[in-house]
Amino acid sequence: MRSLNGMSVLVTGGGSGIGEGCARYFAAKGARVTISGRREDALKRVASSIGARCAFAASDVTSGTGRARMLEAALSHGAGKLDVLINNAGNILHGDLESFGAEALEGIFSSNVIGPMLLTGQALPHLEKTQGAVMFVGSVHTRCAFPGRAPYAATKGAVQVLTRVLAGEFAPKRVRVNCVIPGAVPTEINVRAGAFDEAGARAFYASVASAHPLGRVGTSTEIAEAMEYLVCAEWTTGAILDVDGGMGLGLSRI
Ligand SMILES: NC(=O)c1ccc[n+]([C@@H]2O[C@H](COP(=O)([O-])OP(=O)(O)OC[C@H]3O[C@@H](n4cnc5c(N)ncnc54)[C@H](OP(=O)(O)O)[C@@H]3O)[C@@H](O)[C@H]2O)c1
Repeated sequence: MRSLNGMSVLVTGGGSGIGEGCARYFAAKGARVTISGRREDALKRVASSIGARCAFAASDVTSGTGRARMLEAALSHGAGKLDVLINNAGNILHGDLESFGAEALEGIFSSNVIGPMLLTGQALPHLEKTQGAVMFVGSVHTRCAFPGRAPYAATKGAVQVLTRVLAGEFAPKRVRVNCVIPGAVPTEINVRAGAFDEAGARAFYASVASAHPLGRVGTSTEIAEAMEYLVCAEWTTGAILDVDGGMGLGLSRI
């Protein structure tokens, strides 16, 4: 098992939520973390509160120049190397299927699947040099059906399948690919999607606590702990680890 200490890690979507939690946790364990996202103010806030172990690159994972910029920043902050890519950036859409036009569907696939695929391909030569690791972030939406969230669930199904195919494809290069499947973790994802205001989001997460057999929602630190195992475990690839308080069990009381 490797140690995060001294690793160079790129976390997409590190300006908030699970990505922010991952950046804080990994930096506290000695990693040199670079966070990316579109909002520079959010990235600056996180990076400056973490300190010298964290750099940031304001950049969009759906754009070629954005992906090049975030990778360049991670290599520069990591003294020329990259050990880990955390494909965390993502968006959700709320609505019935017939309410979505092609642009909305292409947009969510672009940020949640296509951008991360292209970034992973661009990072691969660097990860090969360090025999590093790639992390995808799936969702409990692939374990339970949530009506009104079909596009999001479809993108998460895609990254979970990608995890296993790319694990096989990259294994000869000794680059590992794994995925974590979070249950509900209070973040700003639904507010950014325009589904709730902040008070509505708090009420939403309070209401879904009981849908987790362990009786509560999760924290970004609990997701980061699972990520640490998956990126450091040298004989683990293609793993899809549910970290969801049991929500994905689909527990029935019938
Ligand atoms: N929270 C949950 O309950 C939950 C459960 C299962 C899975 N997940 C997954 O966990 C991941 C993190 O989500 P979160 O819940 O922590 O939400 P979040 O706080 O909204 O974080 C998502 C981050 O992704 C960034 N992002 C979105 N589109 C981007 C783009 N095109 N380019 C670069 N960055 C982009 C956002 O920053 P900018 O807007 O500044 O770009 C934001 O910081 C997502 O993949 C999500 O699907 C979350």
